[in-house]
Order: sequence, then structure tokens, then C-alpha cells
Amino acid sequence: MEDGHPTMLELLLEAHIGLERQGPGSPETVRRALAFLGPPERFQKIADLGCGTGGQTLLLAQALPGEIVGLDLFPAMAEKLNERARARGFGDRVRGVAGDMGDLPFERQSFDLIWSEGAVDNIGLEAGLRHWRDFLRPGGCVAVSCPCWLTPERPEAVARFWAEAGSPLDAVETNVGILRGCGYRFVAAFALTEDCWTEHYFAPRERAIQAMLEKYPESAEMQTYAALNRDEVALYRQFGRHYGYVFFIGRLDGTPA
Ligand SMILES: C[S@@+](CC[C@H](N)C(=O)[O-])C[C@H]1O[C@@H](n2cnc3c(N)ncnc32)[C@H](O)[C@@H]1O
Repeated sequence: MEDGHPTMLELLLEAHIGLERQGPGSPETVRRALAFLGPPERFQKIADLGCGTGGQTLLLAQALPGEIVGLDLFPAMAEKLNERARARGFGDRVRGVAGDMGDLPFERQSFDLIWSEGAVDNIGLEAGLRHWRDFLRPGGCVAVSCPCWLTPERPEAVARFWAEAGSPLDAVETNVGILRGCGYRFVAAFALTEDCWTEHYFAPRERAIQAMLEKYPESAEMQTYAALNRDEVALYRQFGRHYGYVFFIGRLDGTPA
């Protein structure tokens, strides 16, 4: 807090900590990505990087029998995942930890699957895929979503928004090339559907923002934060067919354990 007013970072956290997800995605998307990976029994040790409050982590726990560690830069997010995992009866095999996906605090070659939704662009797809490779066992898989261009037409307003957010967009084929260049076999890529943005992310976030506008009526930061979020929604409404999150699935050569 500064002079009794929350900072932008505090507002960002407060708006997101109570949400099921902190970015576009859905249960259907998790199922679709999992379907490319093969038998669930293969995945005994899983990392979910940039897990947020763990919406997708808990879906993975339902679908896969293994142990899952969710990692997030914000300790409050990792703790929220721990709370939710305990409440859902997954406390014995799902745990949230605070850490940096660009400098993983894990043993090398210890995971069968590295999952990451809407988070890798914080360190860059290539840097993430290159770093994470060493933490997969032979035959291990990566499933990662990141924002991409979906059409050859690239509206300037969209390019500016993502560049200013620190995540300049690339084409899907460029990212497939990056995945291959980092040593993975390309398995599949698919774009998230519109409801992943609207129903599963923007709508609950807007409800949280409405409540926060009432809670912080005097805060200029809150007004700015709400306006920025609403600009993002307006951009998606206008240009959403040109860009979106794409799930990329890759596999390392080698026989799974
Ligand atoms: C857009 S949210 C997505 C959260 C969740 N995966 C989802 O799809 O709902 C991105 C998450 O990545 C986390 N994050 C950002 N940079 C990170 C880093 N370097 N290491 C670990 N987590 C990071 C943020 O704290 C945030 O929870």
C-alpha cells in the first residue's frame, strides 16, 4: 500500500487470487491437450509452471495419477493452490511452491510432463523450452500455451499491446520451429477457443474488478487498473480473430520410464 492506496501489483494480485484461472483457458482445453499425450499412467511426476491458483493443476490431478508440483513466482498463488488441493482431497500428491520458471528449483531429469498455461511468455517461449528440457526424463512431454498471431494480418493495436506487455507475438509456425529447435519432437498445436477468454477469464475477472471498484472508490490506481483490463477486453472483442493462445505439445526422444 502507498498512502493507504493499493499499488498496481497489489491490485493485480487481489483481482486474480480468488479466480479459478488467471488467464485464458478451460477444462475442455486441458482435456484436449491431454488427449495428445497418451496413457495417463506414463505421467508419474508432473510440473505445472506459472500455475497461478491452480485451476488447471487440479484438473491435471483429476486426470493423471502422478505427483504434481505447481510453481508460481508469487508465494500467495502457490499457497492458494495448496489450500485448494487440500480442500479437494489432493493434498497428498499436489503441492504448490514459490519459484521462478526460468531457474527451476528441481532435480534434473525428474519430470515426465512439464505443463504451463499462459505463463511462459514471461520469460520467453524459447528460453522456457530450452531450460525446461533438462528437467524432463527421456520420452518426457511438454504442454505449453502462449499467445500467438493466428492470421497473416497483424493489427498494429494488437502488436503494440503485446509488445508493451513484454510478450511480442509470433506466428504458430515460428513457435513450432522454436519447439523443434529446443530439441523436442513436435506433437500438436491448437488454438484456444473464444470461451477460454470470455467465459472462463474475462467474465470472472470483470466481476472481481467491479467489487474492487466499490472497495477502493478513492483509488486512482484502481480506476487505471480497471480501465487497462477493459481495454484488453475491447481489444480482444475487436481483433480476437487475429491472435490467441495456442497450446504446443512436444516430446523428447527416448523411452519413458
Ligand atoms: C496469466 S497467469 C496464468 C496462470 C495459470 N497457469 C492459468 O492459466 O490460469 C501467469 C502466471 O505465471 C506466473 N509467473 C509469471 N512469471 C513467472 C516466473 N518467472 N516464474 C513462475 N511463475 C511466473 C504469474 O504469477 C501468474 O500466476
